[in-house]
Amino acid sequence: MFEAEISKRKTFAVIAHPDAGKTTLTEKLLLFGGAIQTAGAVKSNKIQKSTTSDFMEIEKQRGISVATSVMSFEYRDKLINILDTPGHKDFAEDTYRTLTAVDSVILVIDCVKGVEEQTERLMEVCRMRKTPVIVFVNKMDRDGKDSFDLLDELEKKLHISVQPLSWPIGNGSHFKGVYNLVSQSLNIFTPGKQKLTDDYIEFKDLTDPLLENKIGKTETAQLQEDVSLINGVYPPFDVPAYQAGDLAPVYFGSAVNNFGVQELLDTFVDLAPTPKHRETNLRIVEPNESKFTGFVFKIHANLDPKHRDRIAFVRICSGVFKRNTFYFHVRNGKEMRFNNPTTFMASQKNVVDEAYPGDVVGLYDSGNFKIGDTLTEGEKMMFKGIPSFSPEIFKEIINKNPLKTKQLQKGVEQLTDEGVAQLFRSYHGSRIVVGTVGELQFEVIQHRLLHEYGAEVRMEHLSYYKACWMTSTNKSKIEEFIKYKGSNVFRDKDENFVYIAESSWMLDVAIKDFPDITFHHTSEFKL
Ligand code: G4P
Repeated sequence: MFEAEISKRKTFAVIAHPDAGKTTLTEKLLLFGGAIQTAGAVKSNKIQKSTTSDFMEIEKQRGISVATSVMSFEYRDKLINILDTPGHKDFAEDTYRTLTAVDSVILVIDCVKGVEEQTERLMEVCRMRKTPVIVFVNKMDRDGKDSFDLLDELEKKLHISVQPLSWPIGNGSHFKGVYNLVSQSLNIFTPGKQKLTDDYIEFKDLTDPLLENKIGKTETAQLQEDVSLINGVYPPFDVPAYQAGDLAPVYFGSAVNNFGVQELLDTFVDLAPTPKHRETNLRIVEPNESKFTGFVFKIHANLDPKHRDRIAFVRICSGVFKRNTFYFHVRNGKEMRFNNPTTFMASQKNVVDEAYPGDVVGLYDSGNFKIGDTLTEGEKMMFKGIPSFSPEIFKEIINKNPLKTKQLQKGVEQLTDEGVAQLFRSYHGSRIVVGTVGELQFEVIQHRLLHEYGAEVRMEHLSYYKACWMTSTNKSKIEEFIKYKGSNVFRDKDENFVYIAESSWMLDVAIKDFPDITFHHTSEFKL
């Protein structure tokens, strides 16, 4: 059976606020695992943070990111799949969706900046899905915040219990290393360390005079005090609580200095969950079920305008995925077969014959898939993803050439299937409004509509505040609302009613005047 394959696999993503060190850490993990040979291979995958965004540059970089969408390597008999997430904040939604396809995450925090905005949002998604998290506090070679204060900040801002499993000795220019609280051993920091592995010296007794020789007198006293405080506060680490997403272990290190990466990876391999069960609208699917199931969490368009095919990334949830076998596309009700399912690794594409739960395969697609689509061996169920959050920026798409209306419709439909932006159609009339979390997507949409679909558009900024999905047990109330606020009522892609409020004040008024309507801040809700 394929159970051995499942228990080998650990599928995760590294997440962080931009600049905290996600790319550096990912690269070190890959170097460590032998998946890449030289530093720099992952770096190039990052979308530059410059605000003057050259579209082709973005596309080129997005292109590179296809190649590194899933990076796999073997370590200590395990098969590690790292799912890449975009570094740019405007592509945050891509990251949210990727989080639906992983079984755990490593969260990187910059010790100088602490918990930043993007981290809070990413953690919201992890909490929602109960995804186990390991925290890596990076850049310990810089003068950062006090480590106890950081733990406090992590708990308060991320709403999760944390527990240090290693403890830093000083920071910045006084950073001496970390003490591993589990193995009770010391890992001494040397700036600019080239070797990837860490060297540990066992110190079960912190009063051992040798310790002073290693890290200094003051530091030893401080470490003794810190460790006795930590041991007094924290019980032994509760692994099931971590795997349930309730408790996050914390490590300290410096990715750029190759410091603490081995400790992190070893803990990850020991603790991180293997592929877990997943929820559908009908039932829970266990990975060891014999029949194949999977879902699309990401779609990437081909960069070559002459070939409009796309790659749909499918996370395998149960059974064995086999090449050239018919599978059932639940939403379309169609059987489909894939000749060239592909894995991507550091610019290499490989055709796969079989893939197992926890794996991701890329399927060539000519427009059949949208994000969230489920493939099965016939069962009519859909995997649950994450809800859509209200976009932050809204723009109306205005067609510049009426002869190209059809192309425009098709383009907008397909681009929003890919998840580039959210689409809202006005209830009255035929206005098309798209919403995103960042400006970059509009540039992407405008460019792609023109080059891939021949539709020339103008984008008009709308100073809207928020999109709220509306439900009511009394349908006539929604009709009444449409009479009152019709020009702000839209339908999303699934025909749900959406009120796009101009301001928080307008939304408050609507909530007050229509008590029978519930205004939801996300798209997935139960009636
Ligand atoms: P991101 O993917 O999360 O956006 O972050 P990235 O890894 O690109 O790291 C952001 C910057 O932080 C990089 O510097 C990187 O070298 C630096 N960095 C990463 N880990 C550490 C660390 O442990 N200590 C210190 N001091 N710096 C670290 P950069 O100047 O933006 O890029 P580069 O010129 O070094 O490539």
